[in-house]
Amino acid sequence: MDPVRRPRRLRTDGVRPLVRETTLSPSDLIAPVFVDATTDERVPIDSMPGHERVPVEEAVARVGEVRETGVEAIVLFGIPESKDARGSRAWAEDGVVQRAVRAIAEETDAYVITDVCLCEYTDHGHCGIVEESAREDPTLTVRNDETLDLLSRIAVSHAEAGADMVAPSSMTDGMVGAVREGLDGAGFADLPIMSYAAKFESAFYGPFRDAADGAPAFGDRRHYQMDPANAREAMREVRLDVEQGADVLMVKPALPYLDVVSAIRREFDHPVAAYNVSGEYAMLQAAAERGWLDLDEVARESLLSIKRAGADLILTYFAERIAEQLPTDR
Ligand code: PBG
Ligand code: ZN
Repeated sequence: MDPVRRPRRLRTDGVRPLVRETTLSPSDLIAPVFVDATTDERVPIDSMPGHERVPVEEAVARVGEVRETGVEAIVLFGIPESKDARGSRAWAEDGVVQRAVRAIAEETDAYVITDVCLCEYTDHGHCGIVEESAREDPTLTVRNDETLDLLSRIAVSHAEAGADMVAPSSMTDGMVGAVREGLDGAGFADLPIMSYAAKFESAFYGPFRDAADGAPAFGDRRHYQMDPANAREAMREVRLDVEQGADVLMVKPALPYLDVVSAIRREFDHPVAAYNVSGEYAMLQAAAERGWLDLDEVARESLLSIKRAGADLILTYFAERIAEQLPTDR
């Protein structure tokens, strides 16, 4: 038997680049940056080697480091100086994110996306308002509709500070509509929203919760984040966000949910983002530390897979490391 069809013909060094379906570029990548109001020096994040929380005074320098690798966009997370039941430092004009954004916008050309949520700012660590009695009664959960107004205020405060895009991540029903209405009313009709549209209740967020000090003090997030078992429901979630005015649709986590990325890519024509989360980063780092995997190779292959599944943009802790190895496209 002599095969007529020989796919190997297209695998020689000369032709491989010509028939390559997917490529990775620094302009696809968004680097997470943590700004911490409780410290005046940089603090390494143990579970995320290579990442640190930086004081507001270092935010511009930190973004400069990111930009030097060819990555042009960042997503900013804040750790406030104090927390309360409503998370009021989240929308303060002199809040940690607001101060950092102002400095970054003034002194760099970075494209600044802000995470819009309450969990780093509430003393109970949930992504919205909860009743005091929820500590004892796990059937009580985040009060959805009362949380909407706060999310809108946070987004407007970020926009006023100079954010280029806001990314609501709380999985509150109606959050995109509320944020859109707030922004439009405050004169930011042109500011885009990247919705954490299909965000699953995932154990892969563990290292981030240490990094951003945002673990729930009691209970878990399964009353608002999605059940990892559900892909069709993800389409319903995304459709609602599109109807409410989302500009970019995000799936989170990335690698364990590539089927969802792919389905959204096929069904909608909005840009799709995927968040290659802290646990996805930590597991490759840990294996590489043991000499079991080649970090650069597995990181690049992971990001390429996320693009191949259909993501246009990738939020990833590997952004700087991988961007440095890639040719730029501009
Ligand atoms: C906050 C938020 C989380 C992440 C991004 N925004 C944590 C959570 O929902 O518990 C996770 C990011 C990561 O793990 O890298 N709503
Ligand atoms: Zn949250």
